[in-house]
Amino acid sequence: MSDERKPKVIEPLHGPLDGTCSVPGDKSISHRAILFSAMAEGTSRLEGVLDSSDVRASIGAVQKLGAKVALEKQIDGSLAGGIEGWGAEGPKQPDGPIYCGNSGTTARLLMGVLAPWEIDVRLEGDESLSKRPMRRITAPLMKMGVDFDPAGAETLPITEHGTKCLKAIKYDSPMASAQLKTAVLLAGVYANGVTEINEPSVSRNHTELMLPEYGVETTAGERTAQVKGPAKMHSAEIRVPGDPSSAAFIACAAALKPGSAVHIENVSLNTARTGFLITLERMGVDVTTRHTGSAGKEPYGTISACYSPGIHGCEIPGHKIASLVDEVPVLSLVAAHAHGITVFRNVEELRAKESDRLDAIVKGLAQLGVDAWTEGADLFIEGQPGLEVPEGLVFDSRGDHRLAMTWSLVGLTGKVPVTIKDFECVDVSYPDFLEDMERLSK
Ligand code: S3P
Repeated sequence: MSDERKPKVIEPLHGPLDGTCSVPGDKSISHRAILFSAMAEGTSRLEGVLDSSDVRASIGAVQKLGAKVALEKQIDGSLAGGIEGWGAEGPKQPDGPIYCGNSGTTARLLMGVLAPWEIDVRLEGDESLSKRPMRRITAPLMKMGVDFDPAGAETLPITEHGTKCLKAIKYDSPMASAQLKTAVLLAGVYANGVTEINEPSVSRNHTELMLPEYGVETTAGERTAQVKGPAKMHSAEIRVPGDPSSAAFIACAAALKPGSAVHIENVSLNTARTGFLITLERMGVDVTTRHTGSAGKEPYGTISACYSPGIHGCEIPGHKIASLVDEVPVLSLVAAHAHGITVFRNVEELRAKESDRLDAIVKGLAQLGVDAWTEGADLFIEGQPGLEVPEGLVFDSRGDHRLAMTWSLVGLTGKVPVTIKDFECVDVSYPDFLEDMERLSK
């Protein structure tokens, strides 16, 4: 066992979280900036790009396909620089499979990127990604004329054979998934006519906001988006704001750790992502936001959060889940400390994330002595105000970054250390998470 893979002991922070900080660049926006720049003609300029293993999977993929990436590490830990895309010439036939690691966003968005090109690309992933559903992406792309091998494959590895004769489609998506929506829209960039996707509820809209910067005619409404193809993508300048999904861990830690008061600056405040802030507010957490600017069409600002002793449960309706889908684990931990029951409606999709997060939440909270259960697609948590954490707890992250950070908050904000198995998976979205938490602790 290498050193990093050893279980990690997370000690309680020595004092409250206090002061101002920032978080690394948004993961969703970083992936898109890399992939769209690779598709475009000319050299795009990017700054604030998240440097994490997930985003590196997208960088590695576009390099294999012929894009020239000159991103360099900055003092603040982000990546900045240029990406020269393949433009109208298209990507080159890679000399081997493309490894997407743990990154569902890389694999699923790439399927849309590759759709218009007559090359054969085998997509592979790690053990977790190789279990995640892919039919939701291949089904609409097949309607547009793309071939996949094996044709009915549910999971990676899958080989994609794109086509120059893509058909524009109108697709009623069975689920609110920004990855699915993006794959269809990216294929639609090169299809002849208007490609439209409709969703049952609102998913994150970074693609619709960013594609026009690259010259693609895009329209978007509440639960619908269209692109007009074939479009010529030109280079763009993209600044990536901080990731609200990373900020959520700091805000929730501040809510739970007595005496805390933090300000997290330059975080994306895109309303398709800030459902966790509304939920925290409804649970009685002292949390506020202040808009300070916008990067392209992406609004950003400061999130302030303070220790909140009177947290109470609430019900989160199914149509709001997409706006906080990645924050359900950490919100569940906050709910474990609340008065009364918290209900997350329609969260079945959590079973198909980097791990089965529903099962992990129920079992992890049971280790804390907190009652949590599922009924159909809903998750229930019966909070325990004044929860005393037993000594010697060992949590399994299941190799899932959001679970590793969620369970680490038990130790960081509590009175006794906890141990996390496979803590290093935080590299997927927030490599310096622990250092940032320790720096904020006074
Ligand atoms: C993402 C969309 C969400 C989210 C994932 C990133 C994206 O997944 O959970 O972490 O960048 O589009 P779904 O689209 O599957 O809901």
